[in-house]
Amino acid sequence: MTYAVTAVSGQLGAEIARKLIALPGGARVVGLARTPSRVAVPGIEARPGDYDRPEQLRTALAGVDALVIVSGMAAPELRIQQHRNVINAARAAGVKKLFYTSIIGPEEGSRFSPVVRSNRQTEADIRASGLDWAIGRNGIYIEPDIDFIDSYKARGEIANSAGQGRCGYTTRPELAHAYAALLTRDDVNGGVYDLNGPPMSQTELAAHLNRAFDADLVYREMTPEAFVEDRSAALGDFIGPIIGGIYEGIRQGVYDRPGDYAEVTGRPHQSWGDYFAAFRP
Ligand SMILES: NC(=O)c1ccc[n+]([C@@H]2O[C@H](COP(=O)([O-])OP(=O)(O)OC[C@H]3O[C@@H](n4cnc5c(N)ncnc54)[C@H](OP(=O)(O)O)[C@@H]3O)[C@@H](O)[C@H]2O)c1
Repeated sequence: MTYAVTAVSGQLGAEIARKLIALPGGARVVGLARTPSRVAVPGIEARPGDYDRPEQLRTALAGVDALVIVSGMAAPELRIQQHRNVINAARAAGVKKLFYTSIIGPEEGSRFSPVVRSNRQTEADIRASGLDWAIGRNGIYIEPDIDFIDSYKARGEIANSAGQGRCGYTTRPELAHAYAALLTRDDVNGGVYDLNGPPMSQTELAAHLNRAFDADLVYREMTPEAFVEDRSAALGDFIGPIIGGIYEGIRQGVYDRPGDYAEVTGRPHQSWGDYFAAFRP
């Protein structure tokens, strides 16, 4: 089997490629990247693969049996066509199975919904492709909360609009483990799987961070409007509302679900106790 992963210059694509390389039996792994010079995964064959370049994608997918499409980062309306370019190239190149890293989220009623709907459109395009397929819907990454620890500590708080909502976060390595499992199973064709860990509140998250990083954070609830304003001031008018919309979804309970992680991988998702313990000095 020859497996391929798109966006292998990014964090999730690289993690998935590492897991595929490590599979027993020594699979051949091709990594597609818009920027091949950023690829840092030993043992894979890196090929140019820009979502905006259909011909390049078709060439890059020659000889590939199964492809993981990592969702792009462009604005929702651009992303749909970019993903279509990959699906069409896969079909033209003779790829047999598609896997897609979609997202869990509110399809209506939040500022994140346009991104979620663009992911659902790609899911529909994959279903209509005529190829075999399986779709993972990813939980929200926990890693940004680790990246923000210094700023949380400086403020003494985690402040956002999640309220008492619980979120089934996940990690990129756990997601990569799940995609490697999906690729190697022959009984998942036509399946859609929620890939997330145990749901956790912001108060519980603060407690984990406090233990892991010797901090004294408290959780403060903000209104959705105030949080969007805060994030837009810090991150700009594209990403700010998206982040605000994700926390609106948490507040609405959209991410408070057990998910299908154990069904896909045959083991539970890593616990948050174990995840945060690795950061303790
Ligand atoms: N679940 C979550 O909480 C969450 C959070 C953020 C994002 N996401 C989604 O998950 C995806 C993967 O996340 P990540 O952590 O791996 O993000 P990342 O580390 O920022 O990587 C993004 C990747 O997308 C690639 N890319 C962007 N535009 C492209 C194009 N036109 N053609 C080909 N590749 C392109 C980038 O390539 P270059 O190296 O060329 O820039 C990079 O490899 C994101 O793209 C986004 O859709 C999910």
